[in-house]
Amino acid sequence: MIVSGRCSQSLAAALATDLGEPLVGTERARFPDGELRIHLDFDFDDGNATEHAIVVAATVSHDAFVELLQLQDALRETGVEAVTTVLPYMGYARQDRSFEPGQPVSARAMARAIATGTDRVLVVNPHEESVGDFFEVPCVTVDAAARLADPLSDLREPVFLAPDGGAIGLAETVRDAYGAGTTDYFEKTRRSGGEVEITPHETDVGGRDVVLVDDIVATGRTMAETVDILAGRDAARVFASCVHPVLAEGAYTRLARAGVEAVYGTDTIERAVSAVSVAPTVAAALRGTE
Ligand code: R5P
Repeated sequence: MIVSGRCSQSLAAALATDLGEPLVGTERARFPDGELRIHLDFDFDDGNATEHAIVVAATVSHDAFVELLQLQDALRETGVEAVTTVLPYMGYARQDRSFEPGQPVSARAMARAIATGTDRVLVVNPHEESVGDFFEVPCVTVDAAARLADPLSDLREPVFLAPDGGAIGLAETVRDAYGAGTTDYFEKTRRSGGEVEITPHETDVGGRDVVLVDDIVATGRTMAETVDILAGRDAARVFASCVHPVLAEGAYTRLARAGVEAVYGTDTIERAVSAVSVAPTVAAALRGTE
């Protein structure tokens, strides 16, 4: 059986279809003080008892995170023996170390809490692979970046460009899945949470289509800064693609104003730009056939 978090409903449905598993309904309400009230809508007493359940929940907000813990616990209450937790997007994963004295390793704190309610975890494109080590249960990470090639077609001498060195592997994956083009990367220095400085390389983009590839678009500043540089170098069309379309703080508008042709993300976070589903990749990993 598949149980969906509030922010992962279409992905959970696609996984249920792909895996041939029943999709459990969930009723949601709030207590008078605002706390979440969850109820699994499934007849567990009617011969439907199951040994294994899969919870699919992007922890994209605090409510979504709390709800995941509640869903895991509700499943344990019903007597489900094994729970697998799929994190299409793992919130707080970017704080994977204490950057200054006095700061938490937030990714570890989240991972520890999630691990208490599950037997294993699957995370789609965590910000760093090492985040998987924070879970005190077996964890596999899945790379769904190849899916980002699906909406692309008829590109003109494409360059698949990572806005920073950390994303070059993703750019190569998308280029390989597309089947043509070159790859390159720029350098990024983060001045503060909302300020980035991009240092370009001597990439020849004149008259060529550029596909920007990153794991996350949060405020969109990284990509918008990169688009400005590309415009100054007479790139043809610029596409912004990412696995996780967080799209915080008016990010879409920022990218549109910068002049991107289109923004493409996956359904690890369900947004209007979620042009492709990671369901086939996640289903293959869950079946062990990836
Ligand atoms: C950070 O290293 C990530 O890979 C992304 O580049 C970052 O999260 C993008 O953030 P923003 O869209 O706010 O510039």
